[in-house]
Amino acid sequence: MQKLAIQGGIPLRGEVRISGAKNAALPIMCASLLTRDTLQLSNVPDLHDAATMRKLLVQMGVTATAEHGTMTLCGAQVDKLEAPYDMVKTMRAAILVLGPLVARFGEARVSLPGGCAIGSRPVDLHIKGLQAMGATISIEHGYIHARAKRLKGARIFFDIVSVTGTENLMMAAALADGVTVLENAAREPEVVALADCLRAMGAQISGDGTDTVTITGVEKLHGAAHRIMPDRIESGTFLVAAAATGGSITLTDTRADILETVLEKLTEAGARIRTGGDRIHLEMSGRPRSVNLRTAPYPAFPTDMQAQFMALNAVADGSAMVVETIFENRFMHVQELRRLGAQIAVEGNTCVVRGVDHLEGATVMATDLRASACLVIAGLVARGETVIDRIYHLDRGYEHIEAKLSQLGANIRRIK
Ligand code: UD1
Repeated sequence: MQKLAIQGGIPLRGEVRISGAKNAALPIMCASLLTRDTLQLSNVPDLHDAATMRKLLVQMGVTATAEHGTMTLCGAQVDKLEAPYDMVKTMRAAILVLGPLVARFGEARVSLPGGCAIGSRPVDLHIKGLQAMGATISIEHGYIHARAKRLKGARIFFDIVSVTGTENLMMAAALADGVTVLENAAREPEVVALADCLRAMGAQISGDGTDTVTITGVEKLHGAAHRIMPDRIESGTFLVAAAATGGSITLTDTRADILETVLEKLTEAGARIRTGGDRIHLEMSGRPRSVNLRTAPYPAFPTDMQAQFMALNAVADGSAMVVETIFENRFMHVQELRRLGAQIAVEGNTCVVRGVDHLEGATVMATDLRASACLVIAGLVARGETVIDRIYHLDRGYEHIEAKLSQLGANIRRIK
């Protein structure tokens, strides 16, 4: 199993290009199932999750080529309407094939995802939404089996805001008969990116980016070209790493407008931030100040940035309260941070982090994607060597992370 070894204590300096967003690429790749024509995607990140999704689509009969960040997908010959357990268990986003398959072919078999490290993460809202659109759904041998002659437009209210739930139903509704209204929908920028791609394919969608999305179904969608938006979580992760190490970095090919709460928190921590065009510059001198956080659906503070800020708070001046409201078990990084000397108390969904003067390198274990990013930041800050085990989690969602960090001056290497 591969590991990362980091010699900490070097402030990050320089410029780094931000990759295409994992959470935009995965649903948009699934949109290729909605048409016989070709979908051409650019700025697709080179990530394990994107490779897994491509493999899944190919298994279904999609033809796919990928070169230098451009992926061409064609769903003309899809004949296997199934997402097997071994794929869904490694990548929950595989549930996103459910809506498009039922909408275009009238049938789908998708494995139930089961539990994952950060919580139970059910998919009941995806299922209820499709049922409201007229699908018959049964759970057989751990699989969701959905059938519908043609889905019908419906009014669907989400009692919890769900990002992939909104995306799945938006894709299903694009080919349904009539108008679908999604209420209490997710407002994440990746939902808007998917809507943009679907519109380019001929879908009629309005209201994306607000909590009410209206989709008027059409008979057929066609091919399109779409550029994957920048990854706001990768952007935030590099910015926090620079702030925690007292560095000075510039991100290129990114977007500041979708990072407002993260930039606000970094400013509160003492960073000086300038934005312009597709760039964000951050400069930090001295020790960061502690910042309180509460995760919530967009546009509030993202749960996918909670762990990284925990590493920053671990060495900040003062104490911070961190409340996680999206996932019930998203503090696994706390145990590992303690091994580096962090002082963190956990009670239910709340952590109190008392900043310490310095962390000390140790061997730690990555438990999920963003927890891994937190440990990388802690390793960059800690004195001496930190070895992070099980970094396959990191490769799922961060493109060439050690190359990018090395470019910024970090002493980091992969142990194979
Ligand atoms: C997406 C992101 C993930 C991010 C999360 C929250 C992708 C591929 N992944 O995950 O990186 O951490 O949003 O911003 O975009 N829930 C239910 N029933 C459902 C669906 C969700 O109870 O049917 C609950 C979940 O357990 C969780 C909350 O709703 O507590 C939000 O989850 P959701 O927005 O669906 O997360 P994902 O879309 O899986």
